[in-house]
Amino acid sequence: GDRGEGRRKKGREGEGGVGERREKLKKSEYRANRRGSEGETEKERGEDHSSSHTHTPFYPSKRPPSSLFPSQDNKGFDIGELVWGKIKGFSWWPGIVVTWRATGKRQATHGMRWLQWFGDGKFSEVSADKLDSITAFPKFFNQASYTKLTSYRRMASLRAEKTFPQCESEGPEDQVKPMLDWAIGGFLPKGQEGLKPTDNPEQMVHEVLKNNRSIEDFCLSCGKTRVATFHPLFEGGLCQACKDVYLEISYMYDDDGYQSYCTVCCGGREVLLCGNANCCRCFCVDCLDILVGAGASNSARNLDPWRCFMCQPLQTYGVLKRRHDWSMKLQEFFVNDNGQEFESPKIYRAVPAEQRRPIRVLSLFDGIATGYLVLRDLGFKVDHYIASEVCEDSISVGVVRHEGRIQYVHDVRNISRKNIEEWGPFDLVIGGSPCNDLSIVNPARKGLYEGTGRLFFEFYRLLSEAKPKEAEDRPFFWMFENVVAMGVNDKRDISRFLECNPVMIDAIEVSAAHRARYFWGNLPGMNRPRCASGMDKLELQDCLDHGRVAKFGKVRTITTRSNSIKQGKDQHFPVMMNGKEDILWCTELERIFGFPVHYTDVSNMGRGARQKLLGRSWSVPVIRHLFAPLKDYFACE
Ligand SMILES: C[S@@+](CC[C@H](N)C(=O)[O-])C[C@H]1O[C@@H](n2cnc3c(N)ncnc32)[C@H](O)[C@@H]1O
Ligand SMILES: [Zn+2]
Ligand SMILES: [Zn+2]
Ligand SMILES: [Zn+2]
Repeated sequence: GDRGEGRRKKGREGEGGVGERREKLKKSEYRANRRGSEGETEKERGEDHSSSHTHTPFYPSKRPPSSLFPSQDNKGFDIGELVWGKIKGFSWWPGIVVTWRATGKRQATHGMRWLQWFGDGKFSEVSADKLDSITAFPKFFNQASYTKLTSYRRMASLRAEKTFPQCESEGPEDQVKPMLDWAIGGFLPKGQEGLKPTDNPEQMVHEVLKNNRSIEDFCLSCGKTRVATFHPLFEGGLCQACKDVYLEISYMYDDDGYQSYCTVCCGGREVLLCGNANCCRCFCVDCLDILVGAGASNSARNLDPWRCFMCQPLQTYGVLKRRHDWSMKLQEFFVNDNGQEFESPKIYRAVPAEQRRPIRVLSLFDGIATGYLVLRDLGFKVDHYIASEVCEDSISVGVVRHEGRIQYVHDVRNISRKNIEEWGPFDLVIGGSPCNDLSIVNPARKGLYEGTGRLFFEFYRLLSEAKPKEAEDRPFFWMFENVVAMGVNDKRDISRFLECNPVMIDAIEVSAAHRARYFWGNLPGMNRPRCASGMDKLELQDCLDHGRVAKFGKVRTITTRSNSIKQGKDQHFPVMMNGKEDILWCTELERIFGFPVHYTDVSNMGRGARQKLLGRSWSVPVIRHLFAPLKDYFACE
């Protein structure tokens, strides 16, 4: 029936392999979901997939309820199912099949499932062959296997709507007996059916439209009724698991510049791309067909261009309604995301003008001295600026452009406490450590504790060394930056070490390019609204050289990869010149980032090398926004 069809389709998509997945598809076709594709490496992604055009026929979505993400190996045991599982060295034990995203680890390999065990809540990757239905209870249960009475009772009442009277006797065996009898007897009256996961988007739509329930009580993404927060863009909630997914991947983009996943659910097997030139959003057919209404995805396919639900007029489409204050909500969502409470940072009273001193800066992972440039632009007198950087090209930019005024100290790992004492004291410590092992865009990432991810701890170590001691009462500021598309666990751990939550700032608000980044720190007013100044070049056209015409208002995030300057589903270069499409010139890249023209033109670097430096750097107007309040504390010209 339906269920089998759903699986077979999935299997067919999976067989296509990396090449097929990466093709860009025009509207009226679909783009295969990338959920199955995280195993590839940066290398496999290659630099030029844009030329292959395979048109894959569209299979109508026949998603059966309750199997949002069916397994690809036809072995069953989908997410949400209750099972018995066995791992080496342990006896059979009950658990629930969960999405890998809930585990904080990686995607399960083929034929495996992520299980969360009842009782301790830990996760294991278990072969589907070592799973059995929870209804095989009499086969696997033995007296020793059960101690966790409460979770068992909760499962029973949630799944089977079966309640057990509180037992008079204190003895655990007496307490557990009615439930055991129920289980061994086959979970009657509902049996297997009663144990299936019930929360799903279809049910949610029914409850909202037919029973007048508020959509804010449901997870808009999966339909669960246990809501952890609000959906930032649309009316509705998000459960804990979906919220984590949303935080990690809503700012994840593919090679074509479009979001990797659906704007509503951050999932989706098939997504439609918005036809609005400056919109990088996509929506999955399931969200369209379930939330907007049956057939909505087909109508969307027949429209050219189709405008997504962020670009269409503000009204209710089925149960989908954009929040009128979504742009505020989005900020709130990324600020208050993890519910980690920290003491608010110490607030320093402004220093009277005549007492202000030139600023003393320690810049780690300095890159192309963006920090120095911004301080000077803002008029700060810089007493000294000590920069740790290992890339020769970056150092050349800093040396040449700032005429030897930056003191380079090379590898951050070699900086000792003694060094900090000698070079200090510092008023400002800044840095953004390499993101390649943190960014979830890199499937081979090693995370926070391995590879370049560990360099964060060098920042933490030197920040701790540079902080004023308890007795010292002087203004001291710091700022740490990294990508938004990082694992929620890595982000949580960074926040725990730095003892604050980050603010998310997207350079799109003050420049012509997207660039969403997290900023941790204690800079005054870090969280105030951004506001572009007259000098900011907000449109691509403002950044182009003479005789060149922008094809887009804004461009997507520019990375170190040359392909990142191609735009939209057809992968166009963003500029027209003499009737032909052209790439962005280095000077134009520099203007987009807010650097002075020719800033990176040192040591005969070629275009690729210059884009590498720029693609790693901060957006100048964002850093201006963050550093400007320091003018109340330090001397300026
Ligand atoms: C994300 S970039 C930061 C760029 C900088 N914020 C800017 O605006 O240009 C990270 C930088 O860390 C540097 N880096 C990597 N390993 C380092 C190390 N062990 N010590 C010092 N810097 C390092 C890289 O060369 C790179 O320039
Ligand atoms: Zn959810
Ligand atoms: Zn969706
Ligand atoms: Zn749109």
